[in-house]
Amino acid sequence: MSLPNQKPDLEDSINVTEAHGRVVREAAACAREKRIVDNGIEPISLGAIAACGIAVLMAGAVLGKGANFFSYGANFAPGYVRSAAPGGAESGPAPKEALVAYSARGAKIYSAKCQGCHGADAKGNGATFPSLVGSAWVKGETERFAMAILNGLQGPISDGKTYGVMPPQGVGMLPEDLAGVMTYLRNNLGNSVGDVVSTEQAKKAIEISAARKNAGNACTAEELAADHVKTLPGEVVDPKTMLDPIKLVPAKAP
Ligand code: HEC
Repeated sequence: MSLPNQKPDLEDSINVTEAHGRVVREAAACAREKRIVDNGIEPISLGAIAACGIAVLMAGAVLGKGANFFSYGANFAPGYVRSAAPGGAESGPAPKEALVAYSARGAKIYSAKCQGCHGADAKGNGATFPSLVGSAWVKGETERFAMAILNGLQGPISDGKTYGVMPPQGVGMLPEDLAGVMTYLRNNLGNSVGDVVSTEQAKKAIEISAARKNAGNACTAEELAADHVKTLPGEVVDPKTMLDPIKLVPAKAP
């Protein structure tokens, strides 16, 4: 079979006008392409550079020195006083009785610092860790109890037995923490002395601890008996006083 020997119809196969148009369009597309330099990095467009510049200026205006965007004083007239919250009183944590407020703080310290050894119920394990429930040193004179916590213990302890060595727990403890954990243990988990060890008393305890003759060593029963069978000096807080539960200071009258 052979094709009919026909001259191609130039008119049909090459539409000169259309082909020309295509060449022009492709050339224009090439011209629009970004210039690629030798190292292969495209030049950044002017628009992008301008956008960065504007962002920097705006950041400067909002955050910069002297811009005072976050400064109350610069944005409110002198003497301006914020009106009271709806309902009248300033909102904030509700005041709590001192015993409750100190214990709440102490519960957190207990679980962070003591529970690992003495157990969640503070009953210890009877072998290597003693119970703090019913313990004479927990419930007795506050200075002796504080010295044991701050410096650790080398037995025998209150029950005459030696369980091991308790490492000092005072590092990083704020007076509020010490006061809290002592108040918590004296009044919870089966103990009920009924008093509050105040932040002031805990501060004194930290001073007394730092001035110990044996500073740096764990307390022994002997040292505790000789020097620390005392009630901590410092302000005594009535367990029923209403306190700001966060700062542990007397709550302002509404
Ligand atoms: C690393 C384990 C460990 C941690 C943590 C620990 N203790 Fe102790 N604690 C002991 C050991 C062990 C003894 C017994 C020491 C001995 O036999 O010499 C003890 C004894 C005591 C005693 C003496 C009890 C008594 O009846 O005489 C008190 C009080 C006490 N701990 C309170 C605390 C408090 C409060 C904390 C947390 C702030 C704490 N302990 C954290 C291990 C620990």
